Amino acid sequence: MEWECKVAVTTISFIGFIVTLKLLITFATWILHTTFRSHNNLPRAYGSWALVTGATEGIGKAFSHQLARRGLNLVLVSRTLSKLQTVACEIRAEHPGTLVKVVELDFGGGDVAEGLRRVEEACEGVEVGVLINNVGVTYPKAMYFDEVEEKVWRKIVRVNVEGTTRVTRMVLGGMLRRRKGAIVNLGSGAAVVVPSHPLFSIYAATKAYVDQLSRSLYVEYAQYGIHVQCQVPLYVATNMVSRVASIERDSLFVPTAEAYARAAISEIGHKPRCTPYWAHSIQWCLANFIPDPLLDAWRLSIGMRRRNQNMRELIKDNVPH
Ligand SMILES: NC(=O)c1ccc[n+]([C@@H]2O[C@H](COP(=O)([O-])OP(=O)(O)OC[C@H]3O[C@@H](n4cnc5c(N)ncnc54)[C@H](OP(=O)(O)O)[C@@H]3O)[C@@H](O)[C@H]2O)c1
Repeated sequence: MEWECKVAVTTISFIGFIVTLKLLITFATWILHTTFRSHNNLPRAYGSWALVTGATEGIGKAFSHQLARRGLNLVLVSRTLSKLQTVACEIRAEHPGTLVKVVELDFGGGDVAEGLRRVEEACEGVEVGVLINNVGVTYPKAMYFDEVEEKVWRKIVRVNVEGTTRVTRMVLGGMLRRRKGAIVNLGSGAAVVVPSHPLFSIYAATKAYVDQLSRSLYVEYAQYGIHVQCQVPLYVATNMVSRVASIERDSLFVPTAEAYARAAISEIGHKPRCTPYWAHSIQWCLANFIPDPLLDAWRLSIGMRRRNQNMRELIKDNVPH
């Protein structure tokens, strides 16, 4: 009996030691990786041009500036031509050698095929080695699934799912011919870090598509020198987050788009899925320790709070003064 007890204690201690060692190694690797990220020479590794969708605001705009800093020429795609021209001017002023082309395209409406033809034309004869599939939209407000109007959810699917898929297919041919390329797809913590994202279900589901697509393409195309990656941001201080989460400014866990993009650019070409910003990694790690039902209840309470707040605002706006 005493002997069996000793064996049990030794086995448990050994397992404890292995688990602790694994945690320590993971933590040390994360610290080293976050502190001393290797900066890929993007033009040399993948080609001299990058294509960025949703390039006029938030993360896409910040990515465009960072890519230009890294010596890449740019094809910028977005819905609003005037904003595209402003971003192009800013980048040319900041980085005088950078070539910038702009293409106006609304992924959510109109003739997307025609718009994509224009993007293809802009990419003709240039080596698009990096694609940042950044464009993404969500609900205007927190809503139950059955409350989302058809035109709203169709637009979310068209932009997040169809847009990402079509642009990826468009650039892939050239990358395959050159046997090199990097594709970064913007996923979301809503689909990866938390087990559910109630009251934004369709948005979260489209981001789950982006995540799985990226990870499968990573496996399909790594052998041809093409690195596909899903980046998983949590909150970043942009217009989108101000609209849906009422977060108006950056903080410790909510980086500016510029801080996010600086971290994000260093991750290109590494793992198939990552959350580039250090504080987001901590949040993701902590989420792993919380049971799913608790996270679900927490997310639901946040969604409900936002929905109720929106309802109150709506009622206030409609009351005659
Ligand atoms: N911000 C966050 O906290 C967060 C968190 C997780 C994931 N993400 C993901 O990160 C990506 C960027 O988010 P963000 O916060 O930077 O968004 P944002 O501030 O709302 O900017 C969106 C950009 O996409 C463009 N765009 C919007 N609808 C478009 C359409 N139908 N066709 C073409 N372009 C369109 C906008 O151009 P216009 O100026 O023409 O409207 C703008 O340049 C999205 O995929 C989002 O899901 C963001």
